[in-house]
Amino acid sequence: MSIDLVPADVQRAAEAALDVAQRKVKALVANHPDYFPLYTMGGKWKHDFDPWTNWCEGFLGGQMWVFADRTGSAEWRSLAEHYSTLLRGREFDREVHDLGFTFWPTWKRWHTLTGDAERDEVVVQAGKTMALRLNEKAGLLRSFLAEDSTFIDIMMNVGIIFYAAERTQDDELRRIVDTHCLNTRRYLVRGDGSTAHEGIFDLETGEFLRQSTQQGWRSDSSWARGQAWALYGFGTCYAFTDDSRYLDTAIRCADYYLAQTDESGVPPNDWKEPNPRVPYESSAAAIAASGLLQLSALTTGDQAAGYAEAAFSIVRTLCGPDFVAHEDTIDGVLKHGSYHETHGYGVDECVMWGEYFFVEALDKCLGGEWLATKR
Ligand code: GLY
Repeated sequence: MSIDLVPADVQRAAEAALDVAQRKVKALVANHPDYFPLYTMGGKWKHDFDPWTNWCEGFLGGQMWVFADRTGSAEWRSLAEHYSTLLRGREFDREVHDLGFTFWPTWKRWHTLTGDAERDEVVVQAGKTMALRLNEKAGLLRSFLAEDSTFIDIMMNVGIIFYAAERTQDDELRRIVDTHCLNTRRYLVRGDGSTAHEGIFDLETGEFLRQSTQQGWRSDSSWARGQAWALYGFGTCYAFTDDSRYLDTAIRCADYYLAQTDESGVPPNDWKEPNPRVPYESSAAAIAASGLLQLSALTTGDQAAGYAEAAFSIVRTLCGPDFVAHEDTIDGVLKHGSYHETHGYGVDECVMWGEYFFVEALDKCLGGEWLATKR
């Protein structure tokens, strides 16, 4: 997208925050080489707390690819290649539902830059492996957690299956991914545009049984990060397919996010939770900002301008002193994220996906590509 659309103050703030982000990633790789953190504890990336699941390994290399692209630095390029190469083999990983998170920010960016077919094969394989998660009776891709569970988070990983289907012209892959996305739309996206985090289905019959949650407040509430995954993920589905059902869903999810959130643009962990433990979940805001910029590119006129304005407003807040960690006592760049409040992991800390999507949104404010499909 044209950088002319981005207000000058947002561009200046984005430049400054990207400088801090580069400083923080440089320190991380110097202090803990080849280490893939998920969240800080007490502001530190290195600790012995449980990761819950291994889903964040693509976000470190992904930031490096953005830095390399922006600066032309050979050092960032070499680090980006190295941290991407460390993921080799994970394209066959059937333990997680996060292969989009792992390979889209890394090997896909690498492929886009080089056009190298071998890089593309890794991305395509990751998409094929994701598709193996389909429970045919339920018509849903299962989560990492249990055979009878699906997550809204998976919507942010389905792009890699659409991509694999397109590259291989495999109708079966396309059927699988459409089946999951349309059923997620049916079961996890509610009439008011809010989303449930988890869905539970009957393994015998495939019947959808109930909405549930892991990281939100409760089954009928609204976990903000899930909402951000949905608004971004359904937008990506539309970008791949031109199917207006996906655009309509992305818009409803985005409008719910914006209606629930105050002028800061930064939600709590769950909008429905009375007396939230901490006021902000900044990673949801970073994801939403980047997803809203994509939605702006997928819509037209006042609607497109409105989504871009909302994204710029979030970026302004996140680049402010309350959220950017200029201090070296905090290892990350974006403060006030939360991973898993129920388990007490990474609450009011820096989180690796928050870092990545913040950097991605900043890059988009400085001329980076707004559409996931074009990366
Ligand atoms: N499980 C992915 C997330 O925390 O958003």
